[in-house]
Amino acid sequence: MKKIAIVCSGGDCQGMNVGVKVFTQICKNIRITPIAVIGGYRGLIDCNFSELTEEFVANIDNLGGSIIKSGRCADFKEDKFVKIGVENLKKANIDGLIVLGGNGSFRGLKSLNDFGAKVIGIPASIDNDLFFTAKSIGFETAVNQATKVVDDVKQSMKSSDRGLVVKVMGRDCGDIALQTAVSTLANCVVMRELGSTENSILKDVRSAIENKVDCPVVVVSENIGFNVEKLSEFLEKNTGKEFRFADVGYLARGGAPGNADRVLATRFTCFALNLILQGKSGLAVGIKNNEIFAEEIEEVLSAKERNINIELIDIIKVLNNLSKR
Ligand code: F6P
Repeated sequence: MKKIAIVCSGGDCQGMNVGVKVFTQICKNIRITPIAVIGGYRGLIDCNFSELTEEFVANIDNLGGSIIKSGRCADFKEDKFVKIGVENLKKANIDGLIVLGGNGSFRGLKSLNDFGAKVIGIPASIDNDLFFTAKSIGFETAVNQATKVVDDVKQSMKSSDRGLVVKVMGRDCGDIALQTAVSTLANCVVMRELGSTENSILKDVRSAIENKVDCPVVVVSENIGFNVEKLSEFLEKNTGKEFRFADVGYLARGGAPGNADRVLATRFTCFALNLILQGKSGLAVGIKNNEIFAEEIEEVLSAKERNINIELIDIIKVLNNLSKR
């Protein structure tokens, strides 16, 4: 093998740059030319390839986002564009490709593999919605960021006895919301998986108010089936307490990767690169019980949704029914 490429695809996340740096360092060490595909799968179609140098990656590991850009590429859902991508890799003499991304990116990975490219995936998405793995790169940092934002906004809300509704990302997966809710001792978590309704939220908020909580906090995930921005008005109208809404969204997706994501990105990248060097393809790496493993892409894409962590849901409920906080 002479040349291996790396691409960051889908929504960016913290830790992608760690993957790019580790990839570059190892390739250089074993005399393989490391190539960056710039701008996600669009870069494959447009032949946007660039050789990675140690100088370029020297100071990127503590940066959020993706230094080689990331992005969604609607064209890549069509076979004809995937074939162009595979051809372009061949023409550039690239022997293997590592993809950092989430659900959509892994569907693209499967197509690339089907059309003959040698490709290995690394789960990288703050949403943590690839269910074959316990963790994706970016998730832990996103939760830390969201926790910090909620803590800070709460200080302001508490000063004027206001309640707070915060929205976090996650697409169909409530993991960011649940972890943020527990770590901020929120009074209610709203997730698609729980089938929460405006009235179930109101019940939790009322009990917080009865328990003299000065700033009841509701943490809401994405895709919950009703308008979250209107939720604070609804709560205000039905409790008589002032509420404010804050969208934590992109604040949680930015910032330097935390320790857990740096370690995970490093472990995933070493494992993935080894698989490529062994000539393997059509696999994604994951982690369970702190062990890294590889899984066939078909299994990865059909993995069953994780069970909700009932223990954490119960903790939020029990704490909400206790005294003043
Ligand atoms: O990367 C996944 C995600 O962060 C989702 O949680 C969110 O719905 C989406 O990206 C937003 O994506 P974009 O920045 O492309 O609008």
